[in-house]
Amino acid sequence: MQLAVVGSGYVGLVAGACFADLGHDVIVVDNDDKKLAALNRGEVPIHENFLPELLERHRGSKLKFSDDLEAAVRASSVIFVAVGTPPTEHGEADLSYVESVARSISGAIDSYKIVVEKSTVPVYTSDWVRKIILRNVPEHQEFDVASNPEFLREGTAVTDFLYPDRIVIGADTERCAAVLREVYASLADGTYYLRPDAIPRPDQAQIPPPLIVTSAKSAELIKHASNAFLAMKISFINAVASICESVGANVQQVCQGIGTDSRIGPRFLNPGIGYGGSCFPKDLMAFRAVARECGYDFRLLDEVIRINEEQRQRFIRKVRSALWTLRGKKLGVLGPAFKGGTDDIRESPAILLIQSLLQEGCQIAAFDPAAHERAQEVLNSNVRFAESVYDAARDADALLILTEWEEFATLNLPRLRSELKYPIVIDGRNLYDPQIMAENGFTYYSVGRASSSPEPLPPAVEPKTRKGARS
Ligand code: UDX
Ligand code: UDX
Repeated sequence: MQLAVVGSGYVGLVAGACFADLGHDVIVVDNDDKKLAALNRGEVPIHENFLPELLERHRGSKLKFSDDLEAAVRASSVIFVAVGTPPTEHGEADLSYVESVARSISGAIDSYKIVVEKSTVPVYTSDWVRKIILRNVPEHQEFDVASNPEFLREGTAVTDFLYPDRIVIGADTERCAAVLREVYASLADGTYYLRPDAIPRPDQAQIPPPLIVTSAKSAELIKHASNAFLAMKISFINAVASICESVGANVQQVCQGIGTDSRIGPRFLNPGIGYGGSCFPKDLMAFRAVARECGYDFRLLDEVIRINEEQRQRFIRKVRSALWTLRGKKLGVLGPAFKGGTDDIRESPAILLIQSLLQEGCQIAAFDPAAHERAQEVLNSNVRFAESVYDAARDADALLILTEWEEFATLNLPRLRSELKYPIVIDGRNLYDPQIMAENGFTYYSVGRASSSPEPLPPAVEPKTRKGARS
C-alpha cells in the first residue's frame, strides 16, 4: 500500500520506517526543513536501536522523505498524523498542529482516503478532525477518520512497534477498519515474523499480536487510559517505597511479592526518582483536562502527579541526609536522559534534580551514554559533561545514579571507589544490591531499601534537627 506519515518525530519516523519494513511504500512528511535535510542525507536524528538499519534498508526506495504534504496525500490511501501534541499552559493537549495538518490534508483529497491519528490525542479529536475535513474537502470526495494509537516506548521504539502487545484500530466504518487491517496484516497474521530479515524478536514478545478493532473514541481513550494506568503503577510503587523506608522493609521484596500476582504483574513496578519523558507527564495532564471537560473530577490522576513530584523532593532529602550540607559539594551524576536507552531529555526527572541541586550550590559533573548534546542545550555550562562514568565520579563527594542505563548497573566498583573522594553512592534507580555495595566499601543509599555501608551507619539524622553533626 502507499502510506503517508506526517511528522518525523519519535513516533512518525519509527512508524514510517517500520511500515516500509512491512512492505508498504511510505512517504514521511515533515515541515522542519533541517530535519528533512538530515534524513535525506542519511542521518538518524534520534537514538533508537534498529532504526539506522531500517532507514539504511528502505531510504530512497520504499521510504521517502518530503515536505510536500499535498502530494503525499494524493499519492497515498492512508495518512497517519504523528505531529506533536504538546501541553498548553493549562495542561490540555495543544491540537493546533493536528488541526492545521487536517486542514492541509482536506484540500488534497481526490479519492477515498483514511486519515489516522497516530499522535496521542484526547477523546473527541477524531470528531473534530472529521469536522475540519468536511468543511474543506472538495465536493463528493469520501474519507474516514480513524485512531490508531501508538504504544511504543523510547529506547525500544522499533521492536515495540513491530512486536506490540496489541494493535488498536479505532474505526467507525467497516470499510475503514478493513483497510487498516490490511496495513497491519503481516503483523496480525504473523507472516512478518517468518521473514529471515525480520527485526529480531524481543524476549517477552508474544506473536502474532492481537488486533483490536474499536470505535475511534474508544481507541483515543485506550491510549490516555493506558499511559495514565502505567504512570499510576509507578507512583503506587514509589509510594510503597516511601513506606518501606519508614518501616525498614525492602521494596524489592515487596515488588516480587505483589508482582507475582498475575492480576498485577511485575512490569512497571520499578521504584525510583519518578517518571518523566514526552508522554506520561503531558498525557496525564491532558487526560485530567479531558475528564474535567466531561464533568468527571479524576482526582486520582492528581495524586499520581503529586507522588511523582514528591519523589524528587524525597531524593534531594536523601542526598542531604547523606552529605549533610549541599553548598559546594561536588557530585558525579549518571544520566540526564529521562530513562535508559534514549537520548531524549524531555521532562527528565534527572534534569529537574540536577537543576535543583545546582540551585543548592552543588558542583555537578554528569555523564550519559547518549543525551549529552540535548542535556547541554538545557544545562549549559552549569554542569561539566564528563567523558565517562569514572571521569564524572573523580574527586566527587558522592555519585548519584539518576537514570536506568544498563551500563550503569555493571560498573567497575573498585575503580569507581578509587575515583570518588568519599565512597558514597545515592542510587535513584536501585541498580545495585545494598549488600554488594557495602562489601565493596560503599555507603549506599537507594529507594525503598535500607541504606548500607561497610561499617554500621550512624542513625540517620535530619540536618535541620541537629546542629554540629559530621557527614
Ligand atoms: C508525537 C506526539 O508529540 C505525542 O503526543 C505522541 O504521543 C506521539 O507522537 P513525538 O514523535 O515524540 O510525539 O513528537 P515530536 O518529536 O514532537 O515530532 C513531531 C514531528 O512533527 C516533528 O518532527 C515536527 O517537525 C513535525 N510537525 C509538527 C510537522 O511535520 N507538521 C506540523 O504541523 C507540526
Ligand atoms: C511511555 C509508554 O510506556 C509508551 O507505551 C507510550 O507510547 C509513550 O510513553 P516512554 O515515555 O518512552 O513510553 O518510556 P517508559 O519506558 O514508559 O518510561 C517512562 C518513565 O517512567 C521513564 O522516566 C522511566 O524511567 C519511568 N519508569 C518506568 C519508572 O520509574 N518505573 C518503571 O517501572 C517504569
